[in-house]
Amino acid sequence: MILVIGANGMLGRDLLGLLGERAHGVDIDEIDITSMESVFKVVSEFKPTVVINCAAFTDVDGCEENVDKAMEVNGEGVGYLAMACREVGALLVQVSTDYVFDGTKGTPYQEYDAPHPISVYGESKLAGEMNAAFAPEHLIVRTQWLYGLNGNNFVETMLRLGTEKKQLSVVDDQIGSPTWTVDLSKAIIALVDKGCRGIYHAANSGFCSWNEFAKAIFEETSLAVSVVPMTTEELNRPARRPLYSTLDCSNLTADSGFEPQPWRNALREYIRLRADKKISEGK
Ligand SMILES: NC(=O)c1ccc[n+]([C@@H]2O[C@H](COP(=O)([O-])OP(=O)(O)OC[C@H]3O[C@@H](n4cnc5c(N)ncnc54)[C@H](OP(=O)(O)O)[C@@H]3O)[C@@H](O)[C@H]2O)c1
Repeated sequence: MILVIGANGMLGRDLLGLLGERAHGVDIDEIDITSMESVFKVVSEFKPTVVINCAAFTDVDGCEENVDKAMEVNGEGVGYLAMACREVGALLVQVSTDYVFDGTKGTPYQEYDAPHPISVYGESKLAGEMNAAFAPEHLIVRTQWLYGLNGNNFVETMLRLGTEKKQLSVVDDQIGSPTWTVDLSKAIIALVDKGCRGIYHAANSGFCSWNEFAKAIFEETSLAVSVVPMTTEELNRPARRPLYSTLDCSNLTADSGFEPQPWRNALREYIRLRADKKISEGK
């Protein structure tokens, strides 16, 4: 049985949807990963063969002000999960991020590139990667720029702002790969099913700036919004972000056989699905 932790989150919900009866999901109301007692209780109760950890403190700017919480959830909590997985002989799958890199390499990051986080969030997620390795069987999947039906994300923010304003300023000097949580879920399942271990990068293919991503969102939804460029420096957010953090995902395809679709195709599919969902909910 596969135990998905952080099951109510954006990735957790899609992962559970795709895994169906193979998996059981738990979230903060049933397990607090910052408590060793809680982690051991739940893991020993379900005795999973695989634990997929999607739980995290994902507020990148919030982590700068809540360093202790960031380290507890994203770092130490993963250590407790690794110890519990060791106890029951389970594989630990830890979801990580491009923010473990500083974004100065200039070409797509490989799994073996030296991490150098430039934010508290990135540091805490790197601590999580290191702690995940305490589980004898572990798989670390780094991803980036996630959006999905079940969480706050850039696509939803743009679509909300797009109904309120005719012009939006969006940063054009950060480059990455927008990634749909459904495609990431498929990548994780393929890696698990093929018995892959170690570190992998998984994101939709191709890359763009946030500014280009915003323009694509409005093109796909036919919303007439003018998207003008601004710099990361002008935006002046509390946490520093890597400027170029595209992930090389060739090992994912070579070892699992899963080939992520281009980000623009994924976005189109997501927008269509989102519209269908709104119709079925009568919104
Ligand atoms: N979002 C992105 O763009 C992005 C990019 C790269 C990597 N990632 C990584 O991808 C993974 C999934 O991200 P996501 O966006 O799906 O996250 P999310 O929507 O924020 O979901 C995380 C879930 O974990 C729960 N949680 C928080 N603290 C917990 C604790 N102590 N014990 C148990 N559960 C706890 C949250 O509950 P509450 O909501 O009640 O706090 C939430 O349901 C994370 O590892 C994240 O670091 C995300």
